[in-house]
Amino acid sequence: MSKMQKLLGWVDERFPLTANYKAHLSEYYAPKNFNFWYFFGSLALLVLVIQILTGIFLTMNYKPDSGLAFGAVEYIMRDVKFGWLIRYMHSTGASMFFVVVYLHMFRGLMYGSYRKPRELIWIFGVLIYLVLMAEAFLGYLLPWGQMSFWGAQVIVNLFAAVPVIGPDLAIWIRGDFVVSDATLNRFFAFHVIAMPLVLIGLIVAHLIALHEVGSNNPDGIEIKKNKDPVTHIPLDGIPFHPYYTVKDILGVVVFLMVFSAIVFFGPEMGGYFLEANNFIPANPLKTPPHIAPLWYFTPFYAILRAVPPLFGSQFPGVAAMGASIVLLFFLPWLDRSKVKSIRYRGWLYKFWLTLFVISFVTLGYLGLLAPTETATLIARICGVIYFAFFILMPWYTKVDKTKPVPERVTG
Ligand code: HEM
Repeated sequence: MSKMQKLLGWVDERFPLTANYKAHLSEYYAPKNFNFWYFFGSLALLVLVIQILTGIFLTMNYKPDSGLAFGAVEYIMRDVKFGWLIRYMHSTGASMFFVVVYLHMFRGLMYGSYRKPRELIWIFGVLIYLVLMAEAFLGYLLPWGQMSFWGAQVIVNLFAAVPVIGPDLAIWIRGDFVVSDATLNRFFAFHVIAMPLVLIGLIVAHLIALHEVGSNNPDGIEIKKNKDPVTHIPLDGIPFHPYYTVKDILGVVVFLMVFSAIVFFGPEMGGYFLEANNFIPANPLKTPPHIAPLWYFTPFYAILRAVPPLFGSQFPGVAAMGASIVLLFFLPWLDRSKVKSIRYRGWLYKFWLTLFVISFVTLGYLGLLAPTETATLIARICGVIYFAFFILMPWYTKVDKTKPVPERVTG
């Protein structure tokens, strides 16, 4: 027995290292037919690591003080060695997190990955998505630019629209009557520690649930139903390591090429990743002419603006925006189809999914623009489609003509 084996034996008697390595990597069997849509979970993990590492280094030079914050970010950009790189990686990472997560969620919709027995994977996922939105919103206040300040002002004011408790709730969130130094301090605390802790906890739960039931796949077939009678290994499964660890490296390389291209050649992405107005220090006395959130929030912002106020209250819009996200939780029970994957569904589901994606992207585009009458009308139509996708789902998934699902996974 070599020294390494002896050491491993010593560890294994005290900590289940080999057992966990086998259970989750070398003897964890994943379907053999994953396609590129299955890159995005591991890419989301990669972006998480990038955000945490760059976040630690930003925190070393940042000052959570309304009098110093803007200058501290400029100092990072100009004077701290490679500060510009760390900051651009963090700001690009924020947007890329949403790119990756949106594609990851869309994969779930295509292959019915939220369906039984993966309901909890999906629910943890939606919670992750909510926390990610909170994390991005909180972080956006920190540079203390015009958009930071006014964006926070607009969003916190939405809470003021909640009946009865609203105004007090908004003051409680801000810690002041307006967005101020107190707000910046608490947003900093939540952004650097509270939310990341919750996020990591939820991701761990997401993966524990995933490894309990195993991955779905582009065919939507349960590989655990077809096991080798002797070894009890799924016939359509392959060990996660080395097969998918190696495959995921390809995804990582392609992702890093895109990521670096943005960081080095266009970190502002034409104003979509970093807004021009945010390079102007926050001025509580000067409202920018047009306030829009970053692109990943705009579909929901468009829904908010599309709903008319009721007796002067913005609450219906706020409620619609909240409902548009809450509906995601119910997806596993709204879908009544006999099959999971889009490959074996009929035209009805494909039609509704396409309509849903078009309306979501259109809403995202409209949310970036200043509201006009035509834009509001289109946003209303898209908003109705967005909700109809969920509300009518029990009906169209049930009557949809499905195709027979093969016994074993296809190529
Ligand atoms: C930080 C964010 C997230 C991370 C790090 C993450 C990580 C992962 C990983 C590593 C996998 C396995 C690999 C893969 O199937 O791609 C996975 C699967 C899955 N995730 Fe996520 N995820 C995140 C967010 C979400 C969100 C927001 C949702 C949905 C709302 C979601 C829903 C799912 C589902 C349904 C699966 C199983 C897919 C299948 O087996 O077909 N995840 N996730």
